[in-house]
Amino acid sequence: RNVHIIGAATSFGQPKLGVDLGPDAIRHAGIVKTLSELGMSITDRGNVSCETDGIASQYVNRKESNLLNYNAVKSFNTSLAAEVDDAVASGAFPLILGGDHSLAIGSLAGISKHYDNLGVIWYDAHGDLNDSRTSPTGNIHGMPLGISCGFGDQDLVNLYNEGQKIKPENVVLIGVRDLDEGEKKYIKENGILTFTMMDIRVKGIKAVVGEAISHLSERCDGIHLSLDVDGLDPLETPGTGTPVPGGLSLSETQLAMQVLNVSGQITSMDLVEVNPLLDNKNMTAEKAVEIAAWLFGKKQL
Ligand code: ARG
Ligand code: MN
Ligand code: MN
Ligand code: MN
Repeated sequence: RNVHIIGAATSFGQPKLGVDLGPDAIRHAGIVKTLSELGMSITDRGNVSCETDGIASQYVNRKESNLLNYNAVKSFNTSLAAEVDDAVASGAFPLILGGDHSLAIGSLAGISKHYDNLGVIWYDAHGDLNDSRTSPTGNIHGMPLGISCGFGDQDLVNLYNEGQKIKPENVVLIGVRDLDEGEKKYIKENGILTFTMMDIRVKGIKAVVGEAISHLSERCDGIHLSLDVDGLDPLETPGTGTPVPGGLSLSETQLAMQVLNVSGQITSMDLVEVNPLLDNKNMTAEKAVEIAAWLFGKKQL
């Protein structure tokens, strides 16, 4: 299996410094060696280049419309979408390393071009279903799933390709425990299959991931996994900008990845929100490598 690693070194979707260093922190933690040893053929395409000179003057903070670094997010994701599109066109599995979660606007724009009914598993403490009106922060990393479903700023919705990239009925949320009011309403109105932390405590992660796969595999021609490291408990992954207590353990996440690996259904992945400046000895990037390893078939024996 050919895997193309794409570095999405963006921090524009939120205000904290350092999440743009995430892709290199994950490289330092050994992503290429680890996946190669699992038998994958790895190409590291480097970090997506994007004009970053004079961000302060050049890139408008669309504060009046509650969209931080709006122009930068748009420009970065347009470049990312083209890179991801190219990776999928070459027949590779794209593994996008972040970077803040606004990068999913670009990754889904590039990937969805190749599918009629792309499914998405959103493994995250958050729904990332806000728009500029429902967002309490104006941070676009809290909006990419909504935007990809066609909800919110229309220039972002139509980025790279016209229209909605995914359908809400093809989305499954896993691990959520911090939803804003507008997001709760969106989930209910659109019937998004959602497994909160409380659902996971009741059913177990293995059953939950199994239900997610059977829900998506009957209607989708590919499944994208968008994994935000804040889906895990901050005790496991402290190096992230919006930690929320009460999350998934590493071992539950390994099991989740094993179920996905065995299903053979995952066709692309984002691994996002690793911020080495908020971390303890790069442990969050190391966990990110471990998670990817299990998705690509790592076992204990
Ligand atoms: N819901 C909050 C917001 O809209 C937090 C979003 C956090 N998103 C993330 N990708 N870490 O700002
Ligand atoms: Mn999150
Ligand atoms: Mn909140
Ligand atoms: Mn997220």
